[in-house]
Amino acid sequence: MQIYETTDYNEMSRKAANIMASQIVLKPDSVLGLATGSTPEGLYQQLIDKYENGDLDFSKVQTVNLDEYVGLDMDNHQSYHYYMVNKLFRHINVDPKNCHFLNGMEKDSQKECSRFERLIQGFGSIDLQLLGVGENGHIGFNEPNTHFSKGTHLVALTQNTIEVNSRFFKDKEEVPHYAYTMGIKNLMDAKRILFVVNGKRKAKILRKIITGPITPEVPASILQLHKNVTVVADKEALSLL
Ligand code: F6R
Repeated sequence: MQIYETTDYNEMSRKAANIMASQIVLKPDSVLGLATGSTPEGLYQQLIDKYENGDLDFSKVQTVNLDEYVGLDMDNHQSYHYYMVNKLFRHINVDPKNCHFLNGMEKDSQKECSRFERLIQGFGSIDLQLLGVGENGHIGFNEPNTHFSKGTHLVALTQNTIEVNSRFFKDKEEVPHYAYTMGIKNLMDAKRILFVVNGKRKAKILRKIITGPITPEVPASILQLHKNVTVVADKEALSLL
């Protein structure tokens, strides 16, 4: 793991955006694995700024999103599809046909997960996978004690994740209890992983991820075994290391 410490969230976002931008400059048809949540928002804004300055061209980029809530359609403001379109895609020149999502409205989970697996396999591999992390160590929606060998699958969200994510919803009751997610296997197959972490509330888990045992109890601990992980984390997140 290569670890970059930044002074704060803004510097983390700038540094991570520079890494992603260099990936796109060096390989304009890169396949990017993307994440949602609070952590990458600043990074996405930086990418938009670079596009507006004429420094980045997304026209050949392909994207695959990590995960999606089951039962939310793409126009639902809490869906990850809606997030990506509004936080990034509609501001840049990515071709919407090149932006791929899990479909939270597909009730047949086996059919949806197989479709997504075929899609990823069709790309060969993901060039750069962006990841954030949950306070319980989840990556994507791979909750603690998920098998490391899993590909795309349906998950029941833990109470902790439902509670933490309820901040995005009007009411905790509205948070879906299920999601589709790329599995740990899909993430470990990516050529490079860009792992962004910020804030005090992630410090405990980040210490476990980087220095603790590799265990399904801390899903992100598996990243210790990936050969090309870049961690960009702020001082607060790294404060217990
Ligand atoms: C989002 C995702 C999640 C988040 C994690 C951290 O697509 O897969 O694993 O990265 O829940 O979320 P934030 O950044 O909101 O703390």
